[in-house]
Amino acid sequence: MPSDKKLLILHVTSEVVPYSKTGGLADVLNGLPKAQATLGHKVYVVSPLYDAVDRARHGIKKLGKSVSVTLGGRSFDFQISKADMGDGATALFLRNDDLFGRPQLYGNGNQDYEDNHIRFGSFSAAIFELVRELGLAPDIIHCHDWQTGLVPAFNRLNSLNVAPTVTTIHNLAYQGQFPADVLPELGISWDVFNPEGLEFYGRVNFLKAGIVWSNKITTVSPNYAQEVLRPEFGAGLDGVLRAKGGNFTGILNGADYSIWDPRNDPYIASSYGPDDLSGKQKCREHLLEKVGLKGVIGPIFGVVGRFASQKGFDLIAQVIPSIVAQGGIVVVLGSGEESIQKAMSVVADAFPNRVALKIGYDEELAHQIEAGSDFFLMPSRYEPCGLNQIYSLRYGTLPIVHSVGGLKDTVVDLGADPENGTGFVFHSFDAGAFLQAVSNAFGIYNDKPRLLAARLRGMAKDFSWGQSAKAYLQLYRQAMKM
Ligand code: ADP
Ligand code: GLC
Repeated sequence: MPSDKKLLILHVTSEVVPYSKTGGLADVLNGLPKAQATLGHKVYVVSPLYDAVDRARHGIKKLGKSVSVTLGGRSFDFQISKADMGDGATALFLRNDDLFGRPQLYGNGNQDYEDNHIRFGSFSAAIFELVRELGLAPDIIHCHDWQTGLVPAFNRLNSLNVAPTVTTIHNLAYQGQFPADVLPELGISWDVFNPEGLEFYGRVNFLKAGIVWSNKITTVSPNYAQEVLRPEFGAGLDGVLRAKGGNFTGILNGADYSIWDPRNDPYIASSYGPDDLSGKQKCREHLLEKVGLKGVIGPIFGVVGRFASQKGFDLIAQVIPSIVAQGGIVVVLGSGEESIQKAMSVVADAFPNRVALKIGYDEELAHQIEAGSDFFLMPSRYEPCGLNQIYSLRYGTLPIVHSVGGLKDTVVDLGADPENGTGFVFHSFDAGAFLQAVSNAFGIYNDKPRLLAARLRGMAKDFSWGQSAKAYLQLYRQAMKM
């Protein structure tokens, strides 16, 4: 096969920008397919059609075709629709309102929907029917996270062998585990309910299924790919990943600069770029006014993230009093676990004149925080890749990160390498180490030439998708030879 043969790539995902999003997974499923399509490949992204998807706004059209799958004796029908993602990539949607016509993607608040195995199991089974119905002949099926783990499983176990499969792990902590007795409901034989198959400590594990039956496995940064081979980061699957040997690798996520670049960001108060940073000051003023801190002086530390233990909000809550004492301002946007929400509210309420907390999901404010802040806090316990620190670099907002996963791969520590540094990196996951990094940030804030030089170095970094898109293509070609 000539190495320049254009491929038909089918991505399967539970969320994709601009239609559905809870986190970085959705960003990746927009940026990567478009970059692949730009390289001349035919790219489809299949996701469920949730209730919240704005069909009119995104030009989603019904194809007048449907598919049906039977799992464990129950039938599920899906209507197919389609939209143009731009750059030549195509979104396909599977609609079943009983399963996906719900207010949220995965559950209500802290409670996952109890039929998630059926929702994502039937969605995964429907992929093969969709391929048949539309007459597609994919060269590769690229699956993302546990929700699509049964795609490689059905492909192999039901001898469909439609195409080689690649599974990308965006977060090893979310595995899609269910009690053993769901197996018959999924139409999967007990023969594979063993450690070599999808059994995991007596439970069914969708992500493990994806790992076991895919030809290639990837995760979203080279450093995280190393970390998860160790029990501390492996979430119980380190052995399974080690067994994959060279078929498990890390490919760094890219950033979509058509969405995340202050030179061209419709959400921010004033555009700016490396040639002229004056707009950043306007973005600061606008942000402060918007969050009720108009005119307050001092460096702004921004935070945007899911309220999940992964993101280190416990450390953020611990350092906020010291940031305030040193004359800083903190602007936090997030939503998720109630306990984190409460803890953050307590500390925000203690410093109403210097800390703004916005609870909820707000795309516009996320961009405005990136643009208006001086520093961006990301003290994650673990971080498969992380996108916000990459966005921060482009916005001239110095990231302060824990040295894990993709954070380590993307931020150069000003402390260790003042000539090349783009942010602050701390090594031990505790408030003391984080606070030291924050204090170093105050130091550079008062040294304007150094601050500007660091901002410009970050803004010059290029994490666009092109490079990573090529790395995936190389991997696909290897999978196609297996
Ligand atoms: P993760 O996928 O683990 O949540 P990433 O850093 O990879 O972390 O990506 C997070 C993405 O979700 C970013 O695009 C970020 O701006 C966005 N995001 C997270 N929380 C919110 C929120 N409350 N409002 C708006 N956007 C958010
Ligand atoms: C996950 C990870 C995050 C990563 C994103 C996209 O949500 O937590 O680190 O950037 O997926 O791959």
